[in-house]
Amino acid sequence: MNIHSKLPKTETSIFAVMSGLANEYNAINLSQGFPNFEVSRELIGLINKQMLAGKNQYAPMPGVLELRQALSAKIHKLYGKNINPDTQITITAGATQALFTAITAFVDQGDEAIIFEPAYDSYDPAIKLNGGIPKYISLSSPDFKIDWDEVKNTITDKTKLLIFNTPNNPGGFVFDKEDMQRLAEITRDTDIVVISDEVYEHIIFDGLQHQSAILFDELFNRTIAVYSFGKTFHATGWKMGYVVAPENLMIEFRKVHQFNVFCVNTPIQYALAEYLQNEQNYLTLPDFYQQKRDFFVNAIQDSRLKAIPSKGTYFQLLDYSAVSDMPEFDFAVWMTKEKGLASIPVSSFYHDKKNQQILRFAFPKEEETLLKAAAILNNI
Ligand SMILES: Cc1ncc(COP(=O)(O)O)c(C=O)c1O
Repeated sequence: MNIHSKLPKTETSIFAVMSGLANEYNAINLSQGFPNFEVSRELIGLINKQMLAGKNQYAPMPGVLELRQALSAKIHKLYGKNINPDTQITITAGATQALFTAITAFVDQGDEAIIFEPAYDSYDPAIKLNGGIPKYISLSSPDFKIDWDEVKNTITDKTKLLIFNTPNNPGGFVFDKEDMQRLAEITRDTDIVVISDEVYEHIIFDGLQHQSAILFDELFNRTIAVYSFGKTFHATGWKMGYVVAPENLMIEFRKVHQFNVFCVNTPIQYALAEYLQNEQNYLTLPDFYQQKRDFFVNAIQDSRLKAIPSKGTYFQLLDYSAVSDMPEFDFAVWMTKEKGLASIPVSSFYHDKKNQQILRFAFPKEEETLLKAAAILNNI
């Protein structure tokens, strides 16, 4: 039988490759971005309670109303905006499903979609599976500054979508107010839909304020903002997230969502609705992760691998140009096999595998693990 692959160039994901190598060589695994500490016992207890109370059947298609109301209240508290829980919030199976659904809802055959690289790995295939054509804006280490004139020049009458991510995985950079204003300006008078990937909304450091698209009225009118409970509550395995969008975009999003998953995990939705009542459960996150970032960066002060400032997310980039001129993938494999520490080559976040001699290390780990990793880095 002849199989026609819709994604002929897709290989095993770099995360599976590096985690597989880490297991094989018994290396410390700072490649994949998942926490190695426990989810709140209270939250697990709340889920258990909801399951025992019989909340085990299909949820409403847009999500459990109590959770949408809790999110609307949270958005009002954080960003001072009124978001209608009935028409402007939908609960999804993590951010990845939300992204796929949003891209499918708005990208048609031959449409162009702008993405900034380094980029989360699902954007590009999701665009292609819908017949779209990705247009890449390549940002460079160490500051990953966006040239908005380049973005403006990339827009054509075929541009249908633009996706960005702040705080950024893997770059650790954030969009500032001016970036958001420029984006609003250059999309003005177009029909471009914007996807704002804000899964690290609560992981931002040094007193910086997250510039959510929700804060910018004109921009928000064309935006689907995407969030992940996995990142916020250290539970990446639950695959729970949500989107916030103006009603006219949400109508289209839900048309796809209902045939994609229809609805997502019911007891977890009820439990999250209750857990969100205590704002400390998410407001403490910047300090929690900043401490981890500082701990890790301090521990590798003496390393020849140099830290590129991380302003958000739980990733730290290290520049190894003083150590080797090997390309990133080869160096990451060498370090895993020979030194016992796994990371992710940043080149895998670029379609052309742009090489800058930087690796991404995930630091949502216990201090003991970070210290072991630092000892290795200090000896390279
Ligand atoms: C930028 C970005 N977007 C989306 C996701 C996916 O989130 P989820 O696990 O909720 O699907 C991730 C996960 O690593 C991410 O880093």
